Amino acid sequence: MTKPESFITNGIRIDGRKPEEIRPITIEVGVLDRADGSCYIEHGLNKVLAAVYGPREVHPRHMQKPTTAIVRFRYNMASFSVEERKRPGPDRRSVEVSKVSREALEPVIFTEYFPKSSIDVFVEVLQADAGTRTVGINAASVALADAGIPMRGLVSACAVGKVDGELVLDLMKEEDNYGEADMPLAMTQTGEITLLQMDGNLTPEEFEKAIEMAQEGCKRIYEIQRNALIERYKRDIETEEEPLETPEEEPVEVETVVENEAEEETSEEVESE
Ligand code: CDP
Repeated sequence: MTKPESFITNGIRIDGRKPEEIRPITIEVGVLDRADGSCYIEHGLNKVLAAVYGPREVHPRHMQKPTTAIVRFRYNMASFSVEERKRPGPDRRSVEVSKVSREALEPVIFTEYFPKSSIDVFVEVLQADAGTRTVGINAASVALADAGIPMRGLVSACAVGKVDGELVLDLMKEEDNYGEADMPLAMTQTGEITLLQMDGNLTPEEFEKAIEMAQEGCKRIYEIQRNALIERYKRDIETEEEPLETPEEEPVEVETVVENEAEEETSEEVESE
């Protein structure tokens, strides 16, 4: 990957977006049979899978908390997810991303409902193109809802950065690698910020504006997360409703069977007599 000569030409970024535009996002809910909740997100060129297990018994036992559930979050980048093969297994970066992602989600989870239990979140980055921690948080939030974990609401995350001296929303890889700043933010659906990090430098005015832009991005992402969940459960409700409608159409047959049985009984009685 080489550094582009300029990141913004006539107000348009190298991938055709305006500065305050997010990348296209598709969300699929409930993609894994063996997890309690799961979600697959494509966000621009990022491809991220999240799985949630729990609430379940804590292992090792000494990690149990007597009054609340513990939340564990493991962010992992597949070796093939990045340009240069990544050495498999945890590293400094993945430990940091796991920690901040857990802290971004924990405030919305009613952990007090599940003492001595654990809620385990796994995020697997299959293809990375900048902003994977924010995409991981978005996927994990939807997967937690899919697992039926009681929550105060969803968490949505989005990054803002600076390229060519201008603030841009939702950085893609070239902007992230060669840009002047990168600021991921996560917030609850009621607007509380649960993650705020920053690489690079912004002036106080730029910082204020960047927060506003990130919050706008989060609001848009929240709508997409919400719609994906509605879509998933609407399907379930529709298929569940079908069998309820069928018996109403054939009440006559039920009566016929009863009558026939009654007749048979009578004729049997007559025969035996
Ligand atoms: O992904 P995010 O922006 O949340 O985190 P980052 O640490 O700022 O990483 C930015 C991007 O660098 C990732 O999304 C990957 O595309 C890339 N990267 C990579 O190519 N190889 C790595 N070992 C780590 C990150």
